[in-house]
Amino acid sequence: MSIAAQSADLDYLHVADPAHFVDGSIFDIFKKLRRDDPVHYCADSALGAYWSVTRYEDIMTVDTSHNIYSSAAALGGIVIDDAIQNDPDNDFQLENFIAMDQPRHTPQRKAVQPIASPPAIDSFKDLVRERTARVLDSLPEGETFNWVEHVSIELTVQMLATLFDFPFEDRHKLVRWSDIATASEGSELIVDQKARIAELMECLEYFTKLHNQRVKEDPKFDLISMMAHDPNTSNLAPQAYLANILLLIVGGNDTTRNSMTASIYGGSKFPEQIERLRADRSLIPQMVSEVIRWQTPLAHMRRTALQDTELGGKLIKKGDKVVMWYLSGNYDTDMFTDPERIDLDRHNANRHMSFGFGIHRCLGLRIGELQLRILWEEMLDRFKSIEVMGPPSRVHSNFVHGYTQLPVKLTRF
Ligand code: HEM
Repeated sequence: MSIAAQSADLDYLHVADPAHFVDGSIFDIFKKLRRDDPVHYCADSALGAYWSVTRYEDIMTVDTSHNIYSSAAALGGIVIDDAIQNDPDNDFQLENFIAMDQPRHTPQRKAVQPIASPPAIDSFKDLVRERTARVLDSLPEGETFNWVEHVSIELTVQMLATLFDFPFEDRHKLVRWSDIATASEGSELIVDQKARIAELMECLEYFTKLHNQRVKEDPKFDLISMMAHDPNTSNLAPQAYLANILLLIVGGNDTTRNSMTASIYGGSKFPEQIERLRADRSLIPQMVSEVIRWQTPLAHMRRTALQDTELGGKLIKKGDKVVMWYLSGNYDTDMFTDPERIDLDRHNANRHMSFGFGIHRCLGLRIGELQLRILWEEMLDRFKSIEVMGPPSRVHSNFVHGYTQLPVKLTRF
């Protein structure tokens, strides 16, 4: 094929079509873009016009230049689909600090940042271990079950309940609210915007009750208490409070869930690495970083250009939508050798992009890593093997890069 024809092909490429993520063809698309057109413009698509940034170094430039590239909800926010933030018929806007620029972003982030401090992490450890052990002990042996439902979802929601000190028996409400907050209209989860708002108002009511209790108590290490006792977040308007609660629920939900499933699915592709882990548990933190890189649970974050600027030799115009494809940066061979492999010897595994960089770098990354580390420790203690019994089913999304099903069968020692 001639070079001109190839470039015409690329001109019509709608990188963000969720179908590419379901069938896995996105990896070849990213490889081609990194090589031939690393800052790629799609002039027209169902999601409008947008730039795709696919090389590690260029993504890093965008993520760390918050004065040029905005996260503001009013400009479209942090995902490629403007409709989620910017529906003109939708007066129920949920603006939280991940979708704010300076100076508003940082005071609100600081209010909840202590949740990831060493003393807070220390205070969660035992409970996370106890809950992980209980879930693993309850799994059937010798019969096929869905790892996503029985382990990844269950453990993640238990952790969320821990972080909020949320009534444990009601924890499944958290999964529902997270799913509702992110579901597309017309999906099987939610009929329309009115139904979504009704359910989210229940969420607000529930969390307002918890807030009112915490205000009267001494400060402690849970997210509701931290927000209730910090002057930057104690008097938020109801919708702003709900927005931040939903950020914390959603931020820690799909991401950790899909890393837990990737631990098993990725592990099954590289069994020799699991054998090395069995022989040397000090490699577990490296395994956790590698799985999070290999999976990249959030495929992208989006920004909007605040001024005309140049990136990778291309002119980005003020107002343009710019998509940082972390899933591509994590497979950039200029940064990671043999990126398709999960490799316990990788010298720079912790330079992965899955948590982003810059002022919005993931606030919960130590919490996510803690859960995965404990999961590995408890699995290695109990299971001789976890066999993957069939291909996984994948989430239909260009944002959440994850799984709905992974059939497995396990054998205990
Ligand atoms: C493997 C697990 C996780 C992954 C891959 C992940 C990924 C990310 C990414 C990509 C960002 C945006 C970074 C950027 O724009 O530069 C982010 C932000 C954030 N994450 Fe996570 N996350 C994980 C776990 C968690 C957990 C457990 C929590 C919960 C407490 C959490 C809470 C947040 C919050 C609050 C933000 C917004 C930070 C800000 O805007 O300042 N995340 N995360």
